[in-house]
Amino acid sequence: MSRQLNRVIPSQTTSDGAGVKLRRSIGAADGLRLDPFLMLDEFGTDRPEDYIAGFPPHPHRGFETVTYMIDGHMRHEDHLGNVGELNPGGVQWMTAGRGVIHSEMPQQEEGRMRGFQLWINLPSAEKMKPAAYRDIAAHEVTKLTLPTGGSLRLIAGSLSLDGQAISGPINPVPGSMSTDPLFIDLMLSTGEALSLPVTTEYNAFLYVYEGGLEVGGHPLAARQAGVLGEGDRVDLRATEAARAILVAGKPIGEPIVQYGPFVMNSREEIEQAIADYRDGTLTG
Ligand code: CO
Repeated sequence: MSRQLNRVIPSQTTSDGAGVKLRRSIGAADGLRLDPFLMLDEFGTDRPEDYIAGFPPHPHRGFETVTYMIDGHMRHEDHLGNVGELNPGGVQWMTAGRGVIHSEMPQQEEGRMRGFQLWINLPSAEKMKPAAYRDIAAHEVTKLTLPTGGSLRLIAGSLSLDGQAISGPINPVPGSMSTDPLFIDLMLSTGEALSLPVTTEYNAFLYVYEGGLEVGGHPLAARQAGVLGEGDRVDLRATEAARAILVAGKPIGEPIVQYGPFVMNSREEIEQAIADYRDGTLTG
């Protein structure tokens, strides 16, 4: 069965960090999360004043952040001493777990800065696990040219397409990553159609960042997230040259209490996170 568009979430302009302009779709309000996905931010601008202030040191606890750069150059630094350069096509996969304090700062004073940050929740049993961080360079991302002319980049998960099985650089062995995420960046030419398998039990959404698509015949425009209904695949057609991300994952099914960069299961755990940050013990 082909997954249909269940809901369209137009992105809303907001700002975060020290004043970085963003477009938020998933997570723009409490009711707009899609378990296990807490938030999707698109940053995309040619105006340095929209990004130059960056994200100075700030904490996270209880989930994972995935930063995918399309254009531009940012640098990540964290309390563990990790320094990572984010360049076009590269990915930063950070498991905040118990706690991370990090900064993400632009390394350019002009030109285009464009990309995404996705927040993936962790189940209660993993919220307090040690922080981890992984940098994935652009050349490590799995690329596939489609016979119809377009292409895709597979960042996380695995995919079987036209009898060919491919895996992304984040490809957990079964059971090792509770949310088992799939993250694909799609580039389609006008009129091109594509059918992608998506695990039936998983929640999934598309976000179009250039051009436009039809999902099962229904339009999804640029800067909109489309939450997908039930099925084992999604059938797309580009109504114009389009770029979009497809994200899917196994739902966690636990209560969510969020206070800014802390995402836990209860009010008490949030109060603990705030106290730990204040006392300097957030990261252990
Ligand atoms: Co952050």
